Amino acid sequence: MIILGIESSCDDTSAAVVKDGRVLSNAMASQSVHEKYGGVVPELASRAHQQNIIPVVDDALKSAGISSAELDAIAFTRGPGLMGSLLVGTSFAKGLALSLDIPLIEVNHLQAHILSHFIIKEEKESTLPGLPFLCLLVSGGHTQLVVVEDYLDMKIIGQTIDDAAGEAFDKCAKVMGLSYPGGPLIDKLAVKGNPDAFAFSKPKLSGFDYSFSGLKTSFLYFVRDQLKMNDQFIELRKADLAASLQKTIITILMDKLIKASEKTGITEIGIGGGVAANSGLRNALRQEESKRNWNVYLPEFRYTTDNAAMIAITGYYKYLKKNFTNHSVIPDARMKF
Ligand code: KG4
Ligand code: ZN
Repeated sequence: MIILGIESSCDDTSAAVVKDGRVLSNAMASQSVHEKYGGVVPELASRAHQQNIIPVVDDALKSAGISSAELDAIAFTRGPGLMGSLLVGTSFAKGLALSLDIPLIEVNHLQAHILSHFIIKEEKESTLPGLPFLCLLVSGGHTQLVVVEDYLDMKIIGQTIDDAAGEAFDKCAKVMGLSYPGGPLIDKLAVKGNPDAFAFSKPKLSGFDYSFSGLKTSFLYFVRDQLKMNDQFIELRKADLAASLQKTIITILMDKLIKASEKTGITEIGIGGGVAANSGLRNALRQEESKRNWNVYLPEFRYTTDNAAMIAITGYYKYLKKNFTNHSVIPDARMKF
């Protein structure tokens, strides 16, 4: 069974081909146009998707070595995401499915980040997570703890009540004068810094919910106060600031993950979303794995940020259940699962 996946929820246009749960290709066009604005500009994103979508799909098919006539279904991101961006992928998917007379499959972007763990790998089939699976989904827009009972049966048990973890990285990075997205830059700087140099505020929320807006404010005020005393402060302490910020974010994320594992008894643990690329977070998970008898699943780097392979794999599991979508479908910018 061959599925074409299309992802266009934010600022990456991606298309991928998955055959029987294995990835044959995962093509991508990223948009550098947003860098100078310090964040994604929705109007520019949808225009760039419109320009990129045909070459990217073409690339995905060519790299997979298959023709469009061999496709069994088209899976696309219906939401959540930016409406203008979602419209491009949705309309393209509908048009292609109609012209090929094959099923259309809508995919929830967040569910897809989680299901990227269930891409079947040629050599390591046995390393797919067992069920139930506890996944920490951390991206620029989301921070959620999700219990996966089955591929298409997931439940959110905790989530952020304000900013997402990726936003905390990006906004604090902006305070430090770093470019967007700041997360990867903080990660790089943190390697050379002292994580205990500075202390920032941590939320005191009960249950499994997260909050990052207090940390962001505490970081901003701290840096502002230090700059009043020494205008070279950021330049001089860049690495220490990054390391201390990263340590605080990771501690907040890990505390709830550990609590959720203890409460649910689930020891099959994974992370997903853009922040899953963070080296400190990956190390923290590996450390807990040996301490707590967890089986930890870290996604490959190419599947941490937005990509269409995760859309196509979700399409694969939905196809197995004949879970198809009617052509009257429209994008859902705030789609829930
Ligand atoms: O999942 P994603 O590609 O897009 C969505 O937000 O849906 O995630 C992007 C987020 C950004 O906030 C970016 O700064 C963060 O992931 N990110 C990182 C790292 N790589 C990407 N944050 C911390 N460390 C990283 N290495
Ligand atoms: Zn994403």
